[in-house]
Amino acid sequence: MGLLDGKVAIITGAGGGLGEAYARLFAKEGASVVVNDLGGARDGSGDGSVSAAQKVVNDIIAAGGKAVANGDDVSTMAGGENILKTALDAFGQVDILVCNAGILRDKTFGNTSEADWDLVVKVHLKGTYCCTMPVWTWLRANGRPGTIIMTSSTSGLYGNFGQSNYGAAKAGIYGFMRVLSIEGRKYGIRVMGLAPGAFTRMTSDLPGRKGQEPDPLSLPENIAPGVLYMASDLAADHTGKVLGVSSRGVREIKMLQTDGFQPGRPYTAQEVADHAAEVFFPAAPEKTAASA
Ligand SMILES: NC(=O)c1ccc[n+]([C@@H]2O[C@H](COP(=O)([O-])OP(=O)(O)OC[C@H]3O[C@@H](n4cnc5c(N)ncnc54)[C@H](O)[C@@H]3O)[C@@H](O)[C@H]2O)c1
Repeated sequence: MGLLDGKVAIITGAGGGLGEAYARLFAKEGASVVVNDLGGARDGSGDGSVSAAQKVVNDIIAAGGKAVANGDDVSTMAGGENILKTALDAFGQVDILVCNAGILRDKTFGNTSEADWDLVVKVHLKGTYCCTMPVWTWLRANGRPGTIIMTSSTSGLYGNFGQSNYGAAKAGIYGFMRVLSIEGRKYGIRVMGLAPGAFTRMTSDLPGRKGQEPDPLSLPENIAPGVLYMASDLAADHTGKVLGVSSRGVREIKMLQTDGFQPGRPYTAQEVADHAAEVFFPAAPEKTAASA
């Protein structure tokens, strides 16, 4: 018995890195998997090729699993629709969508270009929209429950130096996830957020990691079980939540507010300043993307 027996899962950007590990584990747990990947470089440049996705599919099939490759671009509506079509043509249904595909164009804000901003936001935020809308529409039209996992990042949830375009896109995904999880409740569609931390081509040369041997617990195959949990019925009671999954394990990341300054009458800016201890959280070491 696998945790995903009888389920069909679409995983975007699954020709390498984290998505590949999810695809391999989901297939091992009984899911039929659509392995989407456009190919291309880490910054989204270069000609796409379905060969990376096809290799993952070949390995899954050789191991006795079920999978099909798709080379569409997640950041277009036509791409998102064709990814769903690939699932329906091959397996007749879809139950799980993991929006994972992504690129990186890190620079300090003053050095970023509008083109960098547009492409990073397009692949991450619009790409999550373009893949979610067809799946959502199909689930609703067929009265079926489902699970959608959207990949955010501590870079968007906490902030991280040099990642203004990426952090903005990832925070946007968080907001999208929260809203859709509320809309999905009455239809049995769970929408979860993921903030992974892993050693992949995306992170292998970040400051502090370059030239370092990766912590084995940060390899994608050791992150995938946390994501399998989110996709499976083991997490059936949870929606609208973000899990951080990294070498340090699995934990919920939450937006919080203080009780605040509540005068219950018109007030002045000076009074807000005078009640700063109630407005703000006590000064604690700030949690950043690097420490999360
Ligand atoms: N690795 C980490 O520590 C980390 C941290 C936070 C968030 N993330 C997020 O996790 C996801 C996976 O990252 P990763 O580390 O495995 O990176 P990765 O570069 O190894 O994998 C991303 C994959 O997405 C594919 N892709 C890019 N643009 C695409 C498009 N338009 N259409 C289809 N496929 C496309 C790439 O070809 C690549 O195979 C990303 O969304 C990333 O932002 C990763």
